[in-house]
Amino acid sequence: MLNDISKILLTEEKIDALTTKIAQQIDKDYSNREKKLLLLGILKGSVVFMSDLIKKIKRPVEIDFMKVSSYGAGTETTGKINIILDLHRTDLKETDIIIIEDIIDSGRTLSYLVEYLKLSGASSVKTCTLLDKPSRRQVEFTPDYVGAEIPDEFVVGYGLDFAERYRTLPFVGILKPEVYANAND
Ligand code: IMP
Ligand code: MG
Repeated sequence: MLNDISKILLTEEKIDALTTKIAQQIDKDYSNREKKLLLLGILKGSVVFMSDLIKKIKRPVEIDFMKVSSYGAGTETTGKINIILDLHRTDLKETDIIIIEDIIDSGRTLSYLVEYLKLSGASSVKTCTLLDKPSRRQVEFTPDYVGAEIPDEFVVGYGLDFAERYRTLPFVGILKPEVYANAND
């Protein structure tokens, strides 16, 4: 697997520092909120980041997950969002939500989910992503918490996959283009 990585963008140590900073900011921002705080992970890419993040947040939080699809097996988005696993809760009015993503690319997934959860009646909806590729936006979208902005490269590791591979790498690295060159044929 390591042979397929051209460059390490974020080391384990760097990710740990970014996650700690975000957790501290969340603790600070929600310290006076009476509502429940729900960290809503978007499967599957956010799982590794979310697992580390929740261990660093000191206030009580609940966790839940949604699964959406916008990508096929390749590296280009189809632009259409499908909800594959929905959130079923009756207490959204009493719940502040922070959506946890691995990476923002076109912005379509998160802008759709924020609208969807607000319409579902959530008390508030914010967004948190480990990685952001702002140069790739197709819809205007600014996340509330960001680990790091990265250039327009396809990255894997720390939960992020290409065709279900590389999620278990402990760092974030750039995937060599020749690995996915034939995938969109
Ligand atoms: P968006 O709706 O285009 O912002 O899509 C975001 C989703 O695309 C992420 O949750 C990832 O699943 C996927 N994605 C975007 N860029 C990358 C990447 O560089 N590596 C792996 N997955 C990516
Ligand atoms: Mg994803």
